[in-house]
Amino acid sequence: MIKRPIARISGLGVAVPDRIVTNHDFEKTLETSDQWIVERTGIKERRHADPGLTLAELSKRASLIAMDRAKVGPKDLGAIILGTATQDRLLPSTACDLQALLGADNAAAYDLSAACSGWLYGLTQAEGLIASGQSEHVLVIGAELLSRIVDQTDRTTAILFGDGAGAAVVSRATDDRGMLSTFIRSDGKLAELLWRPGGGARNPISQAVVNDKSHYIRMAGREVFKSAVLTMAEACDEALRRAGVTSDQIDLLIPHQANIRIIQATADHAGIPMEKVIVNVDRYGNTSSASIPLALAEAVEQGRVKPGSLLLLVAFGAGFTWGSTVIRW
Ligand code: UT7
Repeated sequence: MIKRPIARISGLGVAVPDRIVTNHDFEKTLETSDQWIVERTGIKERRHADPGLTLAELSKRASLIAMDRAKVGPKDLGAIILGTATQDRLLPSTACDLQALLGADNAAAYDLSAACSGWLYGLTQAEGLIASGQSEHVLVIGAELLSRIVDQTDRTTAILFGDGAGAAVVSRATDDRGMLSTFIRSDGKLAELLWRPGGGARNPISQAVVNDKSHYIRMAGREVFKSAVLTMAEACDEALRRAGVTSDQIDLLIPHQANIRIIQATADHAGIPMEKVIVNVDRYGNTSSASIPLALAEAVEQGRVKPGSLLLLVAFGAGFTWGSTVIRW
């Protein structure tokens, strides 16, 4: 049995593009309404990056804040793990671009493909790299420019997704504070409920792919919703069980921000009242891998997370992938 905590978050940083796109903006271009979007999703606005902003640049902004707070320089980083579904280029990784931008010459850098669970998957990998002695400090980023891979004329997806980045420096634990448990899982049988059918090696980019718009995200919303509720419930139970704590000991639940109804169902299952749940889906929409660090950073800034607070983080995304962690802050 491994003694935990092995690793802790020593610094956190976030960055979002300035441009706000409201539900009322979508009312002008799509057959939708602010009322429908708020009732079905809880989203009021989201951020869209202007053309020219790269994922590496947005990630760098979040990373510099996290590194400053952790008092960790670029040469101290042993690894850079970037969870994303919206790489700047398909080859090489955006993590390598970020490494160059940061001057993190001693790091191994790679992208991690676990969709909305990417940042939580990254935390578990960081813990493993620290446990094995490979790294003392690992930069884990969740960053997305989802507005670039969503068909802005498709009302079933356009209104949901937003752009943003969150970064954490994960360092070796020095006392009883840090990650008390981690849990990650996938189910590849359900891949085609939330996917981009075209543009990869199986169906390379072509005029037919573009005409068919199959390079954009497609989602069977209702089925995804049901799986999200089931798997996030399982993930909460597992993280708590592995940490040896009960839900009434949890000070804050920080779930992936996809839909307020999924968040409420997750909190209900875990028996955690909504006053203890961080919600910012209203202001950022679904930012996939960035959503948990964005919510966590907000909670820290508001003073809702204190040294010693017990946090339950839980994610779900395309793949399907899901995961969770209990952290003593
Ligand atoms: O990050 C993890 C992955 N993503 C998620 O977790 C998202 C999970 N799914 C959801 O959040 C919800 O399923 C949605 C918000 C996407 C949709 O809500 P829903 O309550 O499941 O609605 P629905 O897809 O069953 O659609 C109900 C109706 C349909 O019309 P008909 O067929 O009943 O006439 C849709 O065409 O609502 C219509 N609709 C819209 N109406 C106005 C779909 N999108 C919109 C829209 N505005 N934007």
